Amino acid sequence: MSPSQPAIEDAADLPRHLLGLEGVSAASINRILEEAQGFRALVDQADKKTDALKGRTVINLFFEASTRTRTSFELAGKRLSADVINISASASSLQKGETWLDTVRTLEAMTPDALVIRHPDSGAPHLAARALDSHCAVINGGDGTHEHPTQALLDVLTIQHHKGPIAGLKVAIVGDAAHSRVARSQIHALHTLGAAEIRLVGPKTLMPTEAATALGVQVFHDADAGLENVDVIIMLRMQMERIRGAAVPSQREYFRLYGLDPARVERAADDVLVMHPGPMNRGVEIASEVADGPYSVILPQVTNGLAIRMAVLNLLARERGSGSPA
Ligand code: NCD
Repeated sequence: MSPSQPAIEDAADLPRHLLGLEGVSAASINRILEEAQGFRALVDQADKKTDALKGRTVINLFFEASTRTRTSFELAGKRLSADVINISASASSLQKGETWLDTVRTLEAMTPDALVIRHPDSGAPHLAARALDSHCAVINGGDGTHEHPTQALLDVLTIQHHKGPIAGLKVAIVGDAAHSRVARSQIHALHTLGAAEIRLVGPKTLMPTEAATALGVQVFHDADAGLENVDVIIMLRMQMERIRGAAVPSQREYFRLYGLDPARVERAADDVLVMHPGPMNRGVEIASEVADGPYSVILPQVTNGLAIRMAVLNLLARERGSGSPA
């Protein structure tokens, strides 16, 4: 560790909100990962609860569909003994014409300690964080095509479990990176933690325009070349709900060119990890034999997500929310 880098226990620079991983220091990321390691042990115990957030309130405000993220934030809050409320757009006053920022302010008036927001617009959690007056922490549960920080953190935790430090690893992210908030957060985290190579693999139509320059990744349009010798393969779902026009000729053609089948896995390192944030489209981006096969850690990713969300809630809702409003 360089002298300029604070030790993990001195990392007082945890962001007040977790809006993304761009610009978040290695010390802060490591602090969250360390906290999650502790909770990972709890997740495997018969008695899974602690009193850490007793008396605190977490509100999950979801303006977009979610299975994994919403359930694991809810469970994480409950395992920490917080009071947890879930609100989805379809059941809120948004249906009566209230703006979503007024919904946020209304919820803030009920004095929560953390607000987890998922929204189809990139930047929505940032706007919410700016609108709040209290100590309440805003946690981004996925905003448009921008970031999904807790997903990338759980992915990093999963990689570390199987491979040790991120530094030096070669990682291929395959598929619809153009519309993927998951990929963007993963790229920031992997860069910050010193991955040797980050490759984006997919057709030109599904690559972010800033791919090679701003994000500092290598772009491959040939999947077999892009997977050569990588330590980790992360598959992405085609984000049909965000794609305008025909980005690929057909799903069958897409699978032929970019789908992860057993033959493609052979291209990678012998002990490759196969990952997917879910929800998966079997037969579109990944073959069932691979998704359910020996290299897959897709379900452990979900379990690790619980530990990451416990860590994030505990760090941001407990330590910051101890006194009167800031
Ligand atoms: C992702 C999301 O919503 O961004 N899912 C998730 O949170 N695990 C990925 C996706 O929808 O494809």
